[in-house]
Amino acid sequence: MVKSGADTKQGGTAMKWKLRSIHDPLESAGPDARVLLISRHQIFHASLDRQLQPVLQSLVEKRLFQGQPGSTYILPVWKKDHFETYILTGRTEGPLTAGELRQAAAYAARAAIKLGARRLEMDIPSTMQEFMVEQDAEGCAQALCEGFILGSQRAKHYRREQPEQAQLEEITFQLDGPVEPGFLEAWEEGVRWGSSIGDGVVLARRLTNLPGNLLVPSDLAQAALELAERYGMEVDIINEERLAQLGMGALLAVGKGSAHPPQMIVIKYQGTDTWEHVTGLVGKGITFDTGGISLKRGSGMEEMIGDMGGAAAVLGVMEVLGQRRPKVNVVMVVPTAENMPDGNAVKPGDVITTLSGRTVEVLNTDAEGRMVLADGVTYAKALGAERIIDVATLTGAVEVALGQAATGAVTNDDVFMQELITASRKAGENVWPLPSYPEYWDMLKSDVADLRNSTGRMAGAITAGLFVGTFADGLPWIHLDIAGTSWSRKESGLEAKGGTGVMVRTLTEWVRSQEEIFDIRP
Ligand code: BES
Ligand code: MN
Ligand code: ZN
Repeated sequence: MVKSGADTKQGGTAMKWKLRSIHDPLESAGPDARVLLISRHQIFHASLDRQLQPVLQSLVEKRLFQGQPGSTYILPVWKKDHFETYILTGRTEGPLTAGELRQAAAYAARAAIKLGARRLEMDIPSTMQEFMVEQDAEGCAQALCEGFILGSQRAKHYRREQPEQAQLEEITFQLDGPVEPGFLEAWEEGVRWGSSIGDGVVLARRLTNLPGNLLVPSDLAQAALELAERYGMEVDIINEERLAQLGMGALLAVGKGSAHPPQMIVIKYQGTDTWEHVTGLVGKGITFDTGGISLKRGSGMEEMIGDMGGAAAVLGVMEVLGQRRPKVNVVMVVPTAENMPDGNAVKPGDVITTLSGRTVEVLNTDAEGRMVLADGVTYAKALGAERIIDVATLTGAVEVALGQAATGAVTNDDVFMQELITASRKAGENVWPLPSYPEYWDMLKSDVADLRNSTGRMAGAITAGLFVGTFADGLPWIHLDIAGTSWSRKESGLEAKGGTGVMVRTLTEWVRSQEEIFDIRP
């Protein structure tokens, strides 16, 4: 086993968050830079620092900085005896949404890293009204923390020379006046959730970025084991021998062609006294997808190191749950395998018996994700899941349909889907439902087995999802196809190049919302 080293570890970033009032005495050293969130309108019409305002106006006139959202400008200003560095960060006019705040913080963070600034200060108006649409201190703090963490994350590289890269170390939010009662508590709660969610997303991104030789199924299992032990969660790593005893024929079939045996990874997070109202989170953990005997073409195949993005997302959620410990119950199930062609590999035409007892005719060995998820969903049910969400880089077809702008979703329960979409809005991630008419279910029928694993080109993202949903056996279920959203080909906004950690935020928000159910129960 190749050790993947520190890149699979998380457990809380070192970033420090402070909140101070403008009247508090200054600590010895000032920040390396000040973040100034400002729109074009404000540059001309708000009452700003008397020295700063004319400078900003001339920047606009010279078209150097226009206050556009997504733009930043580094401005050194001479103050009596030293320079103060401002990171000007554009914003939309009017009150901001949580999403706009998160984005702005990410852009400011990126500028700070480029500048080598480690300690930042940012003014927060104590009256939330003009600043934020939702006007809640908790949501504001959460969005800012997520933005600062995600905007400063960058994929690791493996060059021989490792130039030192600046890290954000400390961010001080400075309040400009008195606050309403409860503000400080809400702010601190927002900082706690925002920084935990940031950590969860960063963990997911790191796992996704690991090359296939540095993350084989046993490495993913090791990362899960370390995570579970860090937070005292129950964990079970099912090896090949036990997979065979249990009858997980679909996962075994997909893993057969690889020198690195498949495993089923289970983590239980129990946040209440009784194991009830359990949510199953099932993530596709293909550490590399060559397509198997139905081999993929060569160009772009290297992106298949990210075919465990679903597993990374659910592990990221477990990281957040471990840090925050909400009153909810979650079982995480990650079927993990490497899809390789080999003398022993599964072949087109093979008939496989899944854990559920259903048989599957393998028509295309490259449709391996739905196979491993079939056993994952069945196993989550066996462990007490009452509703299931699966997350997977499942089809190229979803990227054809929605591009990289939205995660495609399929469900058997429209109310459940509405809840998840509400959570995704809060999280600032796009989830778009695809239909699940009976005609699509019919396409899964096989001449020789209960199901076929490939249905051809038509409605590919939907039929792939419904294949997985078959194994939910009528339990409320949602499938999230992140093939288009889990990997970013360029740096922008919150995203660095590489793994995005998409769905950590949405899933965390939805899971959090389940706390209410325990609050109303005796
Ligand atoms: N992992 C791929 C899907 C994928 C494609 C993820 C592009 C990320 C980017 C999946 O296992 C796959 O190969 N799907 C096939 C299904 C087909 C054989 C029915 C596909 O989409 O072509
Ligand atoms: Mn495949
Ligand atoms: Zn795949």
